[in-house]
Amino acid sequence: MKPATARLWADQNRHPDDRKRLFRAVREAVGGEKALYPGSYVDIAASFAYPSVTYVDIDRRTPGFFSDVAGIDEIIESEGGPPEPEIQFIHADYRDEMDLEPETFDLLISLYAGPVSAYCTRYLKVGGSLLVNRSHGDVALASMDDRLELAGVVTARAGDYRVSTKDLHTYLNPKKPVEMSAEVIKERQRGIGYTRSPFAYLFRRIG
Ligand SMILES: C[S@@+](CC[C@H](N)C(=O)[O-])C[C@H]1O[C@@H](n2cnc3c(N)ncnc32)[C@H](O)[C@@H]1O
Repeated sequence: MKPATARLWADQNRHPDDRKRLFRAVREAVGGEKALYPGSYVDIAASFAYPSVTYVDIDRRTPGFFSDVAGIDEIIESEGGPPEPEIQFIHADYRDEMDLEPETFDLLISLYAGPVSAYCTRYLKVGGSLLVNRSHGDVALASMDDRLELAGVVTARAGDYRVSTKDLHTYLNPKKPVEMSAEVIKERQRGIGYTRSPFAYLFRRIG
């Protein structure tokens, strides 16, 4: 493994196994094989759970990291990931047209990386899932998107992630009445405060 790969990964994996537990809990709940992770930076923990992951990032450090194929395979193997993982990396702005077929992914991941759902839901299969947190207002955008419906929440307690489908009507209720369009949320990259705050949400693509 290249020293730069080891350094970037050590920095990303400061809470060892945290993301592994997250992605494994998600796959256990929603299944699937192929994941798309726009704004991934170097979070290859998605490959500890999903056999095929396409990572997208614009950061200048990411092409070097993902070019160390042997180093990445070594990390995935040491974390007990699936054998012969398929990894693709696209160095791009996910808001631009990418060389990806529409409706091909089982899971779309949006964690701390801007309005991913607005630009990348088109790559998700109908019936596929979006994992998204409140960062940059992406949950608010997803909740306004007619192609998506809330299908679960991911709760975190002492580093243990669980997916729940109970009482979904009690989530996504604003603390105060708000009038915000998707355009405004996308521009400001700030969302809505809700009465309940799970770690993340799972939406299903329905159209
Ligand atoms: C705060 S990091 C989060 C990384 C990772 N998702 C995680 O949770 O550890 C946000 C990443 O999103 C990337 N990013 C933000 N906007 C982007 C865009 N429009 N296209 C591609 N990458 C983007 C940044 O380059 C950065 O690496």
